[in-house]
Amino acid sequence: MKPDSRIIVALDYATAKEALAFAARITPAQCKLKIGKELFTQAGPDIVRKLVDRGFDIFLDLKFHDIPNTVAKACRAAASLGVWMLNVHTLGGRAMLQAAREAIDNTPQQPLLIGVTILTSMTDADLAEVGIASSVEQSVQRLAKLAHETNLNGVVCSALEAKNIRTATSPSFKLVTPGIRLADSNVNDQKRIATPASALADGADYLVIGRPITQAVDPIAVIDRIKQEIAHL
Ligand code: C5P
Repeated sequence: MKPDSRIIVALDYATAKEALAFAARITPAQCKLKIGKELFTQAGPDIVRKLVDRGFDIFLDLKFHDIPNTVAKACRAAASLGVWMLNVHTLGGRAMLQAAREAIDNTPQQPLLIGVTILTSMTDADLAEVGIASSVEQSVQRLAKLAHETNLNGVVCSALEAKNIRTATSPSFKLVTPGIRLADSNVNDQKRIATPASALADGADYLVIGRPITQAVDPIAVIDRIKQEIAHL
């Protein structure tokens, strides 16, 4: 059985070659891997299959958001690739979330189904402009509750939102948190950040970490350091 790693490395590379080169330096015991829209659009399902074949747990981060029937079929297709986790956008609404849940329940693989609430790039003003009157914080809480009610396995959220979402949902609801930075690492374009230890202390189950690992001179050393920092949590 694979050791359970709480670190998910965001494979934000433009090509399969770069992503596979990174994956060749690590083992499935060290971390899970996230494949997002850039790499998937460039390299297609082949890169997913290759990494699944190498034994990695893959989080397919394509944030499906469409009519219920289309999302259900997309979820089924993603599950058939053997991914460990996939996500949909909760703004697709209750019927779409229920259709996604039902589709996943009918697959033999049964990957974890996670919801995206409000993208961390959006502000209250951005929401108002698209007709959402409630604040980012209120919207995130409402959408996390909707994801919980429709039996999704969890949500992607900022570590700073984790505590409130945990209170509003349940202990087994998975909180997947990006925006993680080591105390001394570059913040890049992330605004609401937390360290690995503080995110877990606030209730995160999985940490999505990209550039602090992928752009390090020695990525393995960074993963090891994070593991040490969170070992007691
Ligand atoms: O390099 P960095 O650690 O900032 O990467 C974070 C990863 O998490 C990226 O793949 C980014 O797209 C993703 N993400 C995020 N904020 C969200 C959802 C996903 O940063 N709300």
